Amino acid sequence: MTEKIRAERNRTLTVEDSERGLYSQNLLTAEKLKANHKLSFLTNKTIRADLFDVVDMLPKGVADLIIIDPPYNLTKDYNGLKFRALDQSEYLEYLRSWFPKVVSILKPNGSLYLCGDWKSTAALQTVMEENLTILNRITWQREKGRGASQNWKNGMEDIWFGVNNKKDYYFDVESVKIKRKVNAPYRENGKPKDWEATENGNFRLTYPSNLWDDISIPYWSMPENTDHPTQKPEKLIAKLILASCPEGGFVFDPFLGSGTTSVVAKKLGRNYLGVEINEEYTLWAEKRITLANSNKTVQGYVNGVFWERNSLNSQKKCA
Ligand SMILES: C[S@@+](CC[C@H](N)C(=O)[O-])C[C@H]1O[C@@H](n2cnc3c(N)ncnc32)[C@H](O)[C@@H]1O
Repeated sequence: MTEKIRAERNRTLTVEDSERGLYSQNLLTAEKLKANHKLSFLTNKTIRADLFDVVDMLPKGVADLIIIDPPYNLTKDYNGLKFRALDQSEYLEYLRSWFPKVVSILKPNGSLYLCGDWKSTAALQTVMEENLTILNRITWQREKGRGASQNWKNGMEDIWFGVNNKKDYYFDVESVKIKRKVNAPYRENGKPKDWEATENGNFRLTYPSNLWDDISIPYWSMPENTDHPTQKPEKLIAKLILASCPEGGFVFDPFLGSGTTSVVAKKLGRNYLGVEINEEYTLWAEKRITLANSNKTVQGYVNGVFWERNSLNSQKKCA
């Protein structure tokens, strides 16, 4: 592969040729799954395979949480695997060809999140409705997006939230509170009402809504960054995992990419399994998972609290 020239402060993670053997030895393949696909064998692993070749071998009803970040309906090159933009009905058929199989991996009281952009969201809503009970649609204001001279810049993504059973599912809202700057600090009897004064300013802990504007995409200066074209931020995945998977629970990601779901699951004490077709991406994932042994930091999540985007303390490390 041709070496990219990078700026001095560029922290993008790469895998050297000398490391490839080390990280590939952890990977599972379709052949290995044919011999053993018990949950204990699959736990905390990455499967390098086409989802279509392995999904039927995966155990049913085992995942507390499934996070799906599929190829969006855009023409995109995933390191040689070219995804061609389809018309709406073709994209819906593509989703229908694997989505129910992935849902069968969910526990009866499990939760599932499905990501997409404005173009794919109608099809995503349809497959969610066909297979689960939708509880919400989160909109993530992405900050960065490609500009277009004849259109509005694309600066958002949707994350559909669904469950198998709306009367029985895990949701820990206390674990995903946001620390926000208080613009109009109100006092009662001279004391701050529901906010605290600190040396860095006045802050309030708030419950999160379904509009997420506190998360930027991974930048080249962030250690979590890889060259994956559509990598999700660890902070975003951390919210999904903390809210919807108990500690020690099991998270599955059928389109793992650079490994973000597994990395964050590991950092937060959850078990994981991911499937990714592209060899290079699986190596990046394995390297990130290994690094998570010694660094449990999630940028923007400090001492159990999510900080606003670019706020001072969001850069500090957790204890
Ligand atoms: C939107 S990206 C996921 C990015 C990921 N959330 C991350 O943070 O890096 C979708 C991924 O699905 C992978 N993919 C596409 N088709 C696949 C298939 N049939 N089986 C397994 N992986 C596939 C692509 O290689 C790509 O890495």
